[in-house]
Amino acid sequence: MKTQIVKVSLENPEYNIIHIAAEILKIGGLVAFPTETVYGLGADAFNPDAVRRVFEAKNRPQDNPLIVHISDYNQLMEITDFIPEVGKIITNAFWPGPLTIVVKASKFIPTVVTGGMETVAVRMPKNKVALKLIDSLGKPIVGPSANLSGKPSPTTAEHVYQDLNGKIDLILDAGPTEIGVESTVVDITVQPPLILRFGGLTREKIEQLIGDVETTEDLKYIRRSPGTRYRHYAPEAKVVLVERGDALTFNRLVQKYIDEGFKVGYIVYSDEIKPDKNLVGKIVSKDIEIYAKELFQSLRDLDMQNVDVILVESVEAKGIGTAIMDRLIKASKP
Ligand code: TXA
Ligand code: MG
Repeated sequence: MKTQIVKVSLENPEYNIIHIAAEILKIGGLVAFPTETVYGLGADAFNPDAVRRVFEAKNRPQDNPLIVHISDYNQLMEITDFIPEVGKIITNAFWPGPLTIVVKASKFIPTVVTGGMETVAVRMPKNKVALKLIDSLGKPIVGPSANLSGKPSPTTAEHVYQDLNGKIDLILDAGPTEIGVESTVVDITVQPPLILRFGGLTREKIEQLIGDVETTEDLKYIRRSPGTRYRHYAPEAKVVLVERGDALTFNRLVQKYIDEGFKVGYIVYSDEIKPDKNLVGKIVSKDIEIYAKELFQSLRDLDMQNVDVILVESVEAKGIGTAIMDRLIKASKP
């Protein structure tokens, strides 16, 4: 299969391009599309064969369910029979945006979308290309991150191409994504709501609106969100975390890995840590939101430079920093 990349305007998506993309989805094809978080791999959510192809292209385990993307509140009615009050409140406040809610699945949702679970994840992305694409198809689309399963999520069309060239029909390229980490997944079938995955919408913002929520870490749940079971967000290189500002440990580890014959890379941001000029790596922004935006790109860039080990400076686990640390800890798991 030949994978086409087509540039599309983020502000005024060209009608003819969106139309072609929707036609591909209509006949069961796969189209990667931008969202405000990361690029997604789109297929008609009500076409089980098309959804199956999404799993194949990504090499994704069958029991890891997909997020259904909508452009209009009316589409929720085909997806679930019941939205709890708290769901209405948070979606009103944060949609379109980096929030995914988990609700009871309606009988219309194909089993392959939910991996056989009784619940389904839904979100309304804040990106005109994504919204117009769904409008043009006239139906919700599934949208897992458009990377190979286990790799860092794609924040540019180029990343999608690296992972999925030859496996999908089309990539809509609207430039780098705004947020850079995936949506926050919140299970609202339980009370209090349970954050299954930290992401672009912070816990603090959710709690300001609806009061205390729980997280899978609080509860030591591991199996609640199937996706969190797998090694994830991982570059080829080994990721090693270093405490914030701990130059001593950083330098010691650099030396240790070099002595062992490894090529060492880094991602750091604080003034304390000053990597040697011979090392490859990235000094990312101290602004945590910009760090989030650059994280997956930085991991992929270092892979391209064939490093064996990436030393990454930790960030404080608050705000979007919680999502960053979640990804880094997962990436650092052997
Ligand atoms: O920002 C995002 O959410 C991106 C963009 C493209 O929208 N999409 C994305 O999808 O990150 P994906 O498939 O890479 O991650 C979906 C996560 C997985 O951890 C999955 O296990 C979880 O959501 N999930 C999906 N359906 C679920 C359900 N019914 N119950 C619990 N977790 C669910
Ligand atoms: Mg993913």
